[in-house]
This record gives sequence, C-alpha cells and structure tokens, in this order.
Amino acid sequence: MEFVNKTVLITGGATGIGFGFAQNLAKMGNRVIITGRRIDMLKAAQDKIPDLIFFACDVSDPEEIDELFAQLKKAGINLDVIFNNAGVLELWDIRTQPIASTDIFTKINTNLAGPIALTQHFIRQADQKRENYIINISTEAAIMPIPIMPLYSSSKSGLNAFTKSLRIQLMDTRFHVIEVVPPATESKMTTVDMKNTTKLANPVVFTLEVIKKIESGKQYYAPSTNAKLLTFIRRAFPEYGLKLIDKLSRKQVLN
Ligand SMILES: NC(=O)c1ccc[n+]([C@@H]2O[C@H](COP(=O)([O-])OP(=O)(O)OC[C@H]3O[C@@H](n4cnc5c(N)ncnc54)[C@H](OP(=O)(O)O)[C@@H]3O)[C@@H](O)[C@H]2O)c1
Repeated sequence: MEFVNKTVLITGGATGIGFGFAQNLAKMGNRVIITGRRIDMLKAAQDKIPDLIFFACDVSDPEEIDELFAQLKKAGINLDVIFNNAGVLELWDIRTQPIASTDIFTKINTNLAGPIALTQHFIRQADQKRENYIINISTEAAIMPIPIMPLYSSSKSGLNAFTKSLRIQLMDTRFHVIEVVPPATESKMTTVDMKNTTKLANPVVFTLEVIKKIESGKQYYAPSTNAKLLTFIRRAFPEYGLKLIDKLSRKQVLN
C-alpha cells in the first residue's frame, strides 16, 4: 500500500511523534486529522500545516471518544487509517508517592481503554472493501516492564496484547494491524517526563521510516538496539533482567 489519498486520524497528533506522522502524511497527499486535549497545541500544529483538520478529544474519556466519531460522521469523514499514538507516562513509586485513584484510571484509559474504544469505532465506520490500517504506538516497556513506570508498562503491555488479539480476529479481512515500538525519540515525554539527555531520534525522520516500513508490509517495527536487547533478556534471564532494568532506569530518571 502507498500512503497517498488516505484519510488518517492521529491521536496526540499535535506534538512529538504524532506530529511527525502528521507532517509526513500531509506532505504525501493524505487528509490528516489530529486530536488531543489542548486546543492551543492543535491550533499551533494547524498553523504550521494549514491542511490539518483537528478535533479536541480526551482519549481517556469514553464520552469524548463517542462524540469524536459522531462529529466525524456528521462531517462526512470516513477514516482509512488510525494511529493510536496519544500516550502518557508516569514515574511512580507506590511506597512513597500516593496518587489519586482517578489518576490511575486516567492514565490506564489513555494508553489502553481509549485506544481500544477508538479502534472499535474505527472498525465500525470503515469501508470494508478498502484497505484499512490500525497502527498502535507501543514502547520498549511493553517488551519488558520498567518497574518505576508501572502504569505505563502495564497499559502498554495491555495494548500489545490487544494488538495481537486484533490481528488474529481480523486475519481474513482488509484490516491491517500494526505495532510500532519507537526508539528514544525527541518529545516532551523523553526530554521533560523522562529527563532523557542521551541522543534522541528526530520524530520527523523516524516517522517517515515507519511509514516506509508499513508501506512495505511490516506489521511489527521495533528498530532500536534496546528493543532487540530487551527481547533477548526477556527470554534468557527475565528475573535478573527486570532488576537490572529497574536499577538502570531509576538511575536515569530519578537523578
Ligand atoms: N518519545 C519516545 O521516545 C517514545 C518511545 C516509545 C513510545 N512512545 C510513545 O509515542 C507516543 C507519543 O509520545 P511522544 O513521545 O510523542 O510524547 P508527547 O509529545 O508527550 O505526545 C503525547 C501526545 O498525547 C496527547 N495526549 C496525552 N494524553 C491524552 C489524552 N488523555 N487524550 C488525548 N490526547 C492525549 C498529548 O496531547 P494533549 O496533552 O494536548 O492531550 C500529546 O500530543 C506515546 O504513546 C508514547 O508512549 C514514545
């Protein structure tokens, strides 16, 4: 398939990796719709790419998801591609940092229940005679959990299981189910939330690479050395590996 003349929805499309996809796909001649919670960020993205269409939608809120698809229908917009990209990460030590139960639900909903609900809407509105793409943005924390990010790790692992289940359910259809595991890429999530000071991938460059891989038929794309290493550690020495990951990640994000 070629990413041209498609109608694409990107959640969290105003910033970081999502905006990287938006820029590339708009340039390639697709109709690109972005969503997010912050209208100022959505408008700023549209200022840079006037062809972008945006809708405010909090993907942790089931009513806002239903409303988004009602608005798309009203506007006569039929999607061919959805990027479940919006995501949130936390640093949470359960012994010392109590957080509100609502925060726990919001984060898990953003990374897991929201993408599942969006995907169901997407499938129901799709033209089943056309090729349709569901692209879930995963993380290395879904390969091996990062213990200091327990909600992020568990919700993204859930997304990984949902993606695999969906791929089997939709096997004999024109729905393609893709999972992407980005390397450390420049965004608020890495530079602010994770305080990552190492060399980061450029979101525009990385997302173009992903688009090319999907065009060539790839269903799972996890190009980083870390992803390969974690896959090996998970098989070879899972328990020791988890302790090592905990030690290294605490050192990186808590210093
Ligand atoms: N950057 C990396 O190195 C990296 C590595 C692995 C995986 N990822 C994954 O890549 C995806 C994009 O992250 P990023 O790195 O580009 O970070 P980012 O710039 O912080 O982007 C996150 C986006 O999600 C949106 N979002 C967050 N909560 C939302 C909610 N409840 N409803 C709707 N939108 C929401 C944010 O917009 P609003 O705040 O305006 O809603 C923002 O546009 C995430 O799923 C992340 O887990 C990133």
